[in-house]
Amino acid sequence: MNLKINSFGQYLSNYEESVTNPEEFWNGIAEHFTWKKRWDKTLSWEFKTPSIKWFEGGQLNITENLLDRHLPHRKDQIAFHWEPNDPNDSDSSITYQQLYHEVCKLSNALKSLGIEKGDRVCIYMPMVIESIVSILACARIGAVHSIVFAGFSSNALADRINDAEAKLIITADGLNRGGKQVDLKSMVDEALTSCNSIKHVITLDCIHANPSMTENRDVWYHEIIENQSLDCPAEAMNSEDLLFILYTSGSTGKPKGVVHTCGGYMIYTAYSFQNVFQYHEGDVFWCTADIGWITGHSYIVYGPLLSGATSVIFEGVPTYPDAGRFWQICDKFKVNQFYTAPTAIRALMACGLEPVEQYDLSSLKVIGSVGEPINEEAWNWYHKNIGKKKCPVVDTWWQTETGGIMLSGLGDHSPMNPTHAGYPLPGIQPVLLDSNGNEIVENGVEGYLCIKFPWPSMLRTTYGDHERCKNTYFSNYEGYYFTGDGAKRDETGMYRIIGRVDDVINVSGHRFGTAEIEDAINTNSNAIESAVVGYPHDIKGQGIYAYVVIDSSENSDTIKASLIDSVSDKIGRIAKPDKIQLVSGLPKTRSGKIMRRILRKIAEGEQQNFGDTSTLLDPEIVEQIVSNSIL
Ligand code: PRX
Repeated sequence: MNLKINSFGQYLSNYEESVTNPEEFWNGIAEHFTWKKRWDKTLSWEFKTPSIKWFEGGQLNITENLLDRHLPHRKDQIAFHWEPNDPNDSDSSITYQQLYHEVCKLSNALKSLGIEKGDRVCIYMPMVIESIVSILACARIGAVHSIVFAGFSSNALADRINDAEAKLIITADGLNRGGKQVDLKSMVDEALTSCNSIKHVITLDCIHANPSMTENRDVWYHEIIENQSLDCPAEAMNSEDLLFILYTSGSTGKPKGVVHTCGGYMIYTAYSFQNVFQYHEGDVFWCTADIGWITGHSYIVYGPLLSGATSVIFEGVPTYPDAGRFWQICDKFKVNQFYTAPTAIRALMACGLEPVEQYDLSSLKVIGSVGEPINEEAWNWYHKNIGKKKCPVVDTWWQTETGGIMLSGLGDHSPMNPTHAGYPLPGIQPVLLDSNGNEIVENGVEGYLCIKFPWPSMLRTTYGDHERCKNTYFSNYEGYYFTGDGAKRDETGMYRIIGRVDDVINVSGHRFGTAEIEDAINTNSNAIESAVVGYPHDIKGQGIYAYVVIDSSENSDTIKASLIDSVSDKIGRIAKPDKIQLVSGLPKTRSGKIMRRILRKIAEGEQQNFGDTSTLLDPEIVEQIVSNSIL
């Protein structure tokens, strides 16, 4: 089986093969990789418990596949061009050979600090090459990485460290983000006051902040890698051994640790990377995500490196020092495939064409979108002004839980339709279900998006709580993986994602549970109760609207500022509400359930048509909220 699809006809026949003979199909893909021991059984699965195993009996190390395997013919090829936050600072690059040595040195350093196969290592880092080295060093020795986005607060970091019982954390003294610097090390120090499992902190000197270092616990990155051997044997991992945990939000409770395993994740990230982006030898790929999210894991680190690609990694933000930064970087490195989020496209679109026109974007061949639905205006702007109408736009739908891209065009080999993610990749069997859980077979319909057959990079469990995995993803519709999204399938079979159908909101491509934000608000002593909903936002896709019942006579601006502080403190500034309305009560049913449907409508600007309100305990509350709503 060819790894690479070269035409729509080939896509159709590969898709057919992947559905009729999935095991043979994936065997053919897996054979392109280096296994320490070949697998005995390709797949065993059931979606009830659930239990999903790919390539059982096989042994591998993913870093051998993305480093050692390439060295004979790519040792001097650049793996990453690193672009600093400030364009006046020097950029740098790292070759495959250098990356191999850096990874081995840090692997040995981790071992010297007592890290063994199976131990969890937390990574709380800026967008620098050492972050990639850290990820790969964990994978090399079989430690399980758990990356926490460096925009999360110390409380959120502590929750994730404690849930994973991480033994070590790799961080930096601080990071550069646009015009600001963020002090990471003191956030770590604060988090560690409530974590017992961490034995060591490795700190990268990134901004020369001279942080305080705790004796016997904290070590400098540059000191611990000094004098380490340039080689480190790659640990033999079983296919189903854990590769990483990544925390993500759901509709209830605290964020859960999505677990991905070695063999299947390796196959699928490489396969999807090469086909969706149509990466060719010598191309330069750039994914603008942060390594703290799944997009960074799969399409900055694993997919591209497994494919022997050269990529760009960028420390900064799209609008610093000005709105031309992305395009300047594309021009500078002659980027061929560019992958970003709709929120960035919309923000840059609002800045006009002048910043775009200063740069030569003729190297671009494929441009991608991920993380949230892309509206038609943004799609057209992107296609016309960035892709110059010659680059296909790949609108890639997937999730932390899916590990890799599920629905998307494949470069210029697929038909395109603005705002439609498109067709499933080979091996992916999506279905739409009606509210009774029945499959809707015809086209031109809308339903709950589920997947009915396993694929190699799907989540295996939620860390430390398998029951939660079952309840969240496999219990809504028996026999299916439930995505949490609603979708339409048009007459040609293309999928268009409508959005989440649960209490998850997607703000600038960042995923939050409304309950998680409410919990953070409710820690504020002024707050009695709160309800959070999403509302359409021109740039962010969705904004956060919080209705808060308060117990205080203080000035409302002071209260709102303190509520924002509570959210920043518990989760991070990325989750702060855009609008806060202080209310005297929430619309509830007689049984005490908040009628979120009404609150959502009010946040969307609706004044009166709230549907059936006969079960409301106090209909007057609705009128009060409407009359004071923030539009
Ligand atoms: O609602 C879908 C939306 O993002 C959710 C997954 O979020 P997360 O796990 O953080 O992963 C984001 C990056 C893969 C999905 O349930 N989503 C993701 N991609 C798209 C999308 N919505 C519409 N179109 C997309 N291309």
